[in-house]
Amino acid sequence: MKIKPLFAVLLCIFSTTLMSSQSFLQKWDGADREVPRLPVRSDAPKPAASRNTLENAGSAPPQKVETPMATDERLERDGWWPTKRSASFQDFVGTSECARCHAKKASSQRATPMAQASIPAAGSVVLREHERLSLRSGPYDYAISHNDARHDYSVSDGVSSISEPLAWAFGLGNKGQTYIYQMGALFIESRVSFYKTLQGLDLTTGHSGSSPRNLADALGRPLDPESLRRCFGCHTTASSTADGFNPSRATPGVACEACHGPGAKHVILMDEGSREEGRQTIFNPGRLSAVGLVDFCGACHRTWNDVNEMGLLGVANVRFQPYRLENSRCWGDGDARLACIACHDPHQQLNHSAEDYDVKCLSCHVLAPTKKTSLDHPGKPCPVGHKNCVTCHMPRVVLPSMHAPFVDHQIRIVRPNASYPN
Ligand code: HEC
Ligand code: HEC
Ligand code: HEC
Ligand code: HEC
Ligand code: HEC
Ligand code: HEC
Ligand code: HEC
Repeated sequence: MKIKPLFAVLLCIFSTTLMSSQSFLQKWDGADREVPRLPVRSDAPKPAASRNTLENAGSAPPQKVETPMATDERLERDGWWPTKRSASFQDFVGTSECARCHAKKASSQRATPMAQASIPAAGSVVLREHERLSLRSGPYDYAISHNDARHDYSVSDGVSSISEPLAWAFGLGNKGQTYIYQMGALFIESRVSFYKTLQGLDLTTGHSGSSPRNLADALGRPLDPESLRRCFGCHTTASSTADGFNPSRATPGVACEACHGPGAKHVILMDEGSREEGRQTIFNPGRLSAVGLVDFCGACHRTWNDVNEMGLLGVANVRFQPYRLENSRCWGDGDARLACIACHDPHQQLNHSAEDYDVKCLSCHVLAPTKKTSLDHPGKPCPVGHKNCVTCHMPRVVLPSMHAPFVDHQIRIVRPNASYPN
């Protein structure tokens, strides 16, 4: 997926452009190491007022602008970052420990799709609710069926067949669910996935539609060690640590410590009553700048730079909200009023009521058509609507391979018949 050399070339080109346009952006997140500066788009329009920190939201706009980064670059820095593999396994304590003191957050977070982003196959609700799933693709017949607590995945070409017990179900299944099974030391991603809108199977997103050469190939895609670690890195907690890759010990899903880092020290200090010290030993993303916050969620949802590196154009990138959002005119150089957590509380269920997002838009946009924009409210009024803004300006775009619509986070005017903007 990654195109390193191309990226290096892009970096060169961009840094030359940056030098000549004198538009260096200031690094700002308290990190103690110089990092190569990556560019924001040079064509990105800048809103009159851009406010960069949560602490500053509401007061005068500071001119601290941070540059969005690729996740691999964030991971090289000191300190915690989601998907980082350098912490030791013993430092993770698990959500039930956190729940002792943060009971409300723990009970709501556990019910979120993020917390259920993977599960051992035996626990999959999708599989439990579907006695038998099947699909014919070219010459191959696929089936997933259960056998007590075991789910068998089989493929047949009419002459012979192979059957393997599934190990993991990835994705809660809001849109889809993909399966992983093991053959010896090899982890294989199923060639077919469950899709909610179909209530059945189809080819796994990213797998080629052309007919596999043989039965073994028809089963799925063997995951190379790096893809495997990444896959578990975003969908489980503490699968890769300083002690190596060990999915059997991992906590399934995105748990507290996937975002906040390992909590052993924090828990010990809090139990001792060393509150101030305790607060220093757990990562609080609330202290990041707006750009840092979006990159933070982007560790899994993919940052602007990650998507740029992948060179992913067209509707395929609608899944990657940080990229889409930062391409919006609204975003400018970054503004806490548009960081992911301005609209989503990661400890709570996603809010499906369009109306509830109006207040987010109106923190920047003026409502009355006669009202003038200001430093504090740089966004013009809408000549068309004054409520349910997201229904028109954050359209749902169908991603054919996922058989489902995704909300396009590139906030924009949608013209009839206009093509998907990249
Ligand atoms: C023994 C009780 C206790 C346990 C267990 C505990 N915490 Fe805390 N935590 C606290 C207290 C007390 C605070 C400080 C609250 C304050 O001062 O507003 C805190 C603060 C935090 C903060 C904010 C830090 C900041 O910058 O102010 C985060 C994030 C956090 N806890 C996450 C966790 C996570 C994740 C776990 C599980 C790994 C956990 N806590 C377990 C007691 C605990
Ligand atoms: C460690 C990886 C990881 C991080 C970090 C992360 N996410 Fe997620 N997120 C996921 C995965 C995986 C899913 C898919 C869950 C599923 O449906 O299986 C997801 C799903 C979601 C959803 C969809 C929930 C639904 O109801 O369908 C929202 C909203 C979301 N994340 C917001 C955020 C925000 C906001 C942040 C940053 C504060 C964030 N995420 C950080 C991995 C992550
Ligand atoms: C860089 C982080 C990352 C990696 C690597 C990754 N995922 Fe995800 N995955 C996500 C996020 C974030 C979402 C939620 C947004 C979306 O649906 O694209 C998601 C969504 C999904 C969904 C749909 C969930 C639902 O409820 O609809 C499936 C299925 C899935 N991933 C499977 C996999 C498998 C299998 C692998 C590895 C082979 C993998 N993912 C690798 C971050 C990741
Ligand atoms: C997807 C990432 C993510 C996960 C998972 C997550 N958090 Fe958080 N957490 C955040 C972000 C972002 C903030 C800062 C914004 C805020 O205050 O909500 C935060 C803030 C906090 C705070 C300090 C702010 C406050 O309101 O006191 C505590 C305490 C906390 N989280 C505890 C937890 C616990 C306990 C869990 C697990 C049950 C958890 N978090 C899971 C992302 C996450
Ligand atoms: C201005 C508000 C706003 C901001 C900022 C925002 N979102 Fe959303 N997001 C929404 C709305 C609205 C929905 C659709 C909710 C619904 O009706 O289901 C949504 C849905 C999602 C979903 C569910 C997937 C889908 O398309 O159905 C994910 C995942 C998500 N957002 C992640 C993020 C991440 C990551 C960020 C930061 C880059 C972010 N969002 C920033 C408003 C926002
Ligand atoms: C951080 C401040 C901020 C927030 C929050 C914000 N916007 Fe904007 N938005 C702007 C600025 C600045 C512009 C550029 C000036 C203008 O056209 O008003 C803009 C432009 C727009 C445009 C015109 C885009 C174009 O391509 O010409 C639309 C439509 C829009 N915003 C809708 C929304 C909606 C809907 C929301 C909430 C989901 C939202 N904005 C949230 C600041 C913001
Ligand atoms: C019924 C659909 C609809 C709703 C609801 C809606 N808009 Fe719009 N909006 C449009 C259309 C269409 C345009 C383009 C008008 C034109 O230029 O022809 C537009 C234009 C805009 C612009 C660009 C204005 C300019 O002068 O450049 C902004 C900013 C905007 N909308 C913000 C919002 C906000 C904020 C809300 C919610 C308070 C909202 N819109 C609700 C359809 C809608």
